[in-house]
Amino acid sequence: MAVAGEPQAHGGLREEELRAYGLRPADVLDFSASINPLGASPAAVAALAGIDYSRYPDPDSVALREAIAAATGVTIDEVLPGNGATELIHLVVRAFVRQGQRPVVFAPTFGEFERACRLVGAAVHPWKANPQRGFRWNFDNKGGVLRRVTPPLVYLCAPNNPTGVYPTLLDVRSLAASLIGGPLLLDESYLGFVAQQWDSIPLMRTGRVLVLRSMTKDCGLAGLRLGYLLADPDVVAAVRRLQPEWSVSAAAQAAGVAALSHPEHVTRGRAAVEQSRRFLLPALTELGLMVNPSAANFVLVETGGATDIRARLLRRGMAVRDCTSFGLPEHIRIGIRRLEDCERLVPALRDALREREHD
Ligand SMILES: Cc1ncc(COP(=O)(O)O)c(C=O)c1O
Repeated sequence: MAVAGEPQAHGGLREEELRAYGLRPADVLDFSASINPLGASPAAVAALAGIDYSRYPDPDSVALREAIAAATGVTIDEVLPGNGATELIHLVVRAFVRQGQRPVVFAPTFGEFERACRLVGAAVHPWKANPQRGFRWNFDNKGGVLRRVTPPLVYLCAPNNPTGVYPTLLDVRSLAASLIGGPLLLDESYLGFVAQQWDSIPLMRTGRVLVLRSMTKDCGLAGLRLGYLLADPDVVAAVRRLQPEWSVSAAAQAAGVAALSHPEHVTRGRAAVEQSRRFLLPALTELGLMVNPSAANFVLVETGGATDIRARLLRRGMAVRDCTSFGLPEHIRIGIRRLEDCERLVPALRDALREREHD
């Protein structure tokens, strides 16, 4: 349940909040979550028809792990599927972080890593990005920070939520080489939307990097829940021991196998994002707003008073992410949807900004 007065912690719609506005989820254009604009993978949806829901899922997700291994170029014992990337973040934290330790988090970023650390009694050391440098991190002083903090785990999101920054391979490789303490958890949940991707598998093979991916965004399976970890077999085995049995449902396993055999859905979704981006970014700039350059399928936009702007847009049937919980109360995050949806958002945002001026 959402706690009254607390900032929105994630994108996506909450029935409780919508009811306060007299809205139902179907009434709202949701720009607050960043999902493939073409929706769920049609192959995944078709695969759901063939499932016998009275049977338990395969607890070892063998067919799904084979499909992931084939798609990513790793071996099956280097793959661990989970109930969304979120479950895997919590399990990896439990495997590596102990009470009183100081994991490092490249901030501002997805809040679930910090929450998972708090649940095991650890306070994170934030490695803050510089807003003046387009929220890019300065990796130059990494040796000093890592020696001082000796983190049991480091979390870096590539591309990063909510800033859209995609760190370079050079920076991530040299970060991984400088680690003291524990490994790097490299969260690539939005990788499917990046036009110029670099390959993280060789980094994973050094044993210093755990790669995390989500199929809820690029394959459009947010409601179904599916993500996977790619790591050294010993790490996979250790994390698997902490995972509840049957975490990955029969539906998620079948949908995952089908989605992986039709990667063109992701390619088309990326192209749809690019088409919308070409319209949306200049349109937002024309409204006088600062837009952070983004390699992902969302943009961070400085509007001032993010909570207020979100409320004004909700009254117009559109949801954006208020970035207050990221420590950015002046920013909203807009998930890039189909062109026709973005064409509806811009005038609504213009109205909301004007209305605020006159209040
Ligand atoms: C960076 C990042 N990692 C992981 C997740 C969660 O992914 P999933 O839906 O697979 O749990 C999100 C969701 O917003 C995210 O932004």
